[in-house]
Amino acid sequence: MSTIEVLLIALVLLIIVYTLVLRRSPKNLPPGPRSLPIVGNLFEFTGSRQVYKDFLKYREKYGDVIRFSFGPSRDFFVVFGRKAIHKGLIEQGNDFKFRPSNLYLINKLFHGKGVLFGNGESHQKLRKFTLDSLITFGLGKKKLEERIKDEARILADELESYGGKPRDIRKTLKGAVANIIAGIVYGSRFDYGDPDFLLLIRSIEAIFTTIAGHLPENFLPFLAYLPNSKTRQVLNAAGDMTIFARRKIKEHRETFDPKNIRDFVDLYLKAEQQEDEIVTEENMFRDIIDLSIAGTESTATALAWAVLYLIINPDVQDKCQKEILENVGSVRAVSLSDKEQLQYLDATIKETLRLASIVPLGVPHTVLKDTQFDGYTIPKDSTIIFHVNSVLADPEVWKKPDEFHPERFLTEEGKKNKRDFFLPFLLGLRSCPGKPLVTTELFLFLGNLLQRFTFKIPPGCQTPSVERVHKGLTCQPHPYQVCVVPN
Ligand code: HEM
Repeated sequence: MSTIEVLLIALVLLIIVYTLVLRRSPKNLPPGPRSLPIVGNLFEFTGSRQVYKDFLKYREKYGDVIRFSFGPSRDFFVVFGRKAIHKGLIEQGNDFKFRPSNLYLINKLFHGKGVLFGNGESHQKLRKFTLDSLITFGLGKKKLEERIKDEARILADELESYGGKPRDIRKTLKGAVANIIAGIVYGSRFDYGDPDFLLLIRSIEAIFTTIAGHLPENFLPFLAYLPNSKTRQVLNAAGDMTIFARRKIKEHRETFDPKNIRDFVDLYLKAEQQEDEIVTEENMFRDIIDLSIAGTESTATALAWAVLYLIINPDVQDKCQKEILENVGSVRAVSLSDKEQLQYLDATIKETLRLASIVPLGVPHTVLKDTQFDGYTIPKDSTIIFHVNSVLADPEVWKKPDEFHPERFLTEEGKKNKRDFFLPFLLGLRSCPGKPLVTTELFLFLGNLLQRFTFKIPPGCQTPSVERVHKGLTCQPHPYQVCVVPN
């Protein structure tokens, strides 16, 4: 027997002993599908391109809270529908406000720190610091609006240079979005072709489109070392991001002037001088990485979906453009102050976020003690997924949920129709702090692009697919070609 075989057998035995001896099984667990010994349901979803749909299939049989077993002694729960999600994240928000610290790959990447995967008092302080900083350098300030409008102009010039020929423009859109985060965090923008910037974007993409709560490597760490695991790629990507961020922080330290705060990194350096135990270089570093990862891929994916839905629904595109022409004209740029007048564009953005369901399973949560929820016991340290897509595509809430229909966000008079079940950013204490930034970016990018261009399916090409490919944390569209034709 080879050493590897001996090691594998020893590992399996260890897992069996661990499962039998250590597994606590509180009574009254939620129902769920049968599972295999040791690995449970872990491999049921491997290779699936639509894991969020695979989970949904069980809802009809087992209800709104379902238990899966992921690896030895590891419970994994999925919560469906607005009622149960609201109960977990709002009514019992303090019980469910934690991120798991026992998911192997996620832990290796995020170290249980930062705003995305941190917990406890340090997370609360860091989240507040991050939100305040987004307000200082991002939201609510004219400066950010001007930055996005400038970037929209550069993006439009780049798109114009394609001469109306068929192109996959998703990378270009991603460059524009990445520059907004780079502006907030590092105070600078990059050329779309800059090799360092392209490496940064590729790293973010590799991480965001791989990590997910349900990844088998999180539960059986040895899988991370098998040759076909994506772990190496993701850890390399994290390494590249680290080098980039550390270099930028070093440059900032060398030119730091507390009287002239230029960006998020400077703000952090200033706070660090106040000897706050939360504002350490390590925390700053994790926060920068979190903002880059969370803020780039999701928003760029939303823009890519918006363009796709517009080429497939030219009537919607036409209505957006008419509204812009009537209320803004074709000379001055679309601004945030136009938002009240551009209700149809606003509804189109919301419908994109609803239908694309960009982060369909949210980010995993956990509970730190056995917790009573919806008549069941959720054991401490389980992984809990709040199924965003089950609300955004609920046929009892949305008429024809699979259709792109911005009118559902408007009243008959064309005014805003607030919909309670619209929660692409989830709810409660861990809900997405980037929401105002995302909505501002989508409004200014799309408004200004539609003022200048019409997006079209290339002549002779079939209508592109709208099937969602669930990769890591996001749902991406399949690659598609588009002609960007000046108006
Ligand atoms: C279309 C774009 C986006 C979508 C659909 C989205 C969605 C989400 C969702 C569903 C969560 C999980 C909430 C939960 O677990 O309860 C989340 C968390 C988070 N998002 Fe976003 N997001 C987007 C863009 C952004 C942007 C632009 C930023 C940064 C500027 C950002 C930063 C974060 C952070 C830091 C968290 C973790 C918050 C915490 O754990 O306290 N997101 N996002």
